[in-house]
Amino acid sequence: MDWWENYFDKETIDLHKASLALGQTDTEARLLPNILEVESGDSILDLCCGYGRLAVPLAMAGYRVTGVDISSTALDQLKSAAEENSVRIRAVQADMRSLPFTDEFDAAILMNHSFGVFHNDLDNRTVINACARGMRSGAVLLIELHNPATMSEFLGGAKGTDVVRMGRWDVNLDWSYIDSESVFQMRFVWHRGQRRIEKWHRLKIYDVQELESMCQESGFSRVEFYADLTGDRSYFEHRESTPYLVVKALR
Ligand SMILES: C[S@@+](CC[C@H](N)C(=O)[O-])C[C@H]1O[C@@H](n2cnc3c(N)ncnc32)[C@H](O)[C@@H]1O
Repeated sequence: MDWWENYFDKETIDLHKASLALGQTDTEARLLPNILEVESGDSILDLCCGYGRLAVPLAMAGYRVTGVDISSTALDQLKSAAEENSVRIRAVQADMRSLPFTDEFDAAILMNHSFGVFHNDLDNRTVINACARGMRSGAVLLIELHNPATMSEFLGGAKGTDVVRMGRWDVNLDWSYIDSESVFQMRFVWHRGQRRIEKWHRLKIYDVQELESMCQESGFSRVEFYADLTGDRSYFEHRESTPYLVVKALR
């Protein structure tokens, strides 16, 4: 079984919620429509939507949102949150490589480091292809990634360890960057009272040239790179300081 298949269970979702910066979700949900160039009523695909962190506020702002995720636990939480907030969200359980959509969406998002989970480059390319197929001509695909330039601090097979407090959990993080494979790997051990949970995740880190060619090969006509979701700060001017690489690709 691949690590991502059962990663987003109830505890990991808890941890994910605790790891977010104060106000992060509100800020992201507020900035997204502008960079996505969408208007109220437009349809947005939230790929790897998780528990609906962004899908719910986007639906509340008047967008028609489809959330796709592999995790049934996350989708159950999304459905409850939609109901609590009296919004409709289409929730689809699917692998991001095989999306059942054609020419449907005015925009698509892949947020919070959800791209690069597959060992195989072809599989990661397939995700961009699947998005392209599901999007209308002129639609924007937005992918938020770790900044590949700041990964250089992990270069040379360097490893590190941190202990952090996240919500109700004490978390030991062991990270490493596998230079030869451009893979960022993180092992988490969470403690809360008698509970001890160990998990790890692994992401392939792509640079701007690789991302640009993947998008172009999938039929995106223009690819732009930003340092954040405002769409004002060029990635190239801020690549030494930004934690993010935001890819904006026009279908
Ligand atoms: C870090 S979370 C991000 C959630 C959401 N995008 C956000 O910004 O809060 C990554 C999500 O990707 C989902 N995921 C991982 N592999 C997947 C796959 N192969 N197909 C669909 N979803 C997947 C996980 O279940 C999880 O919900």
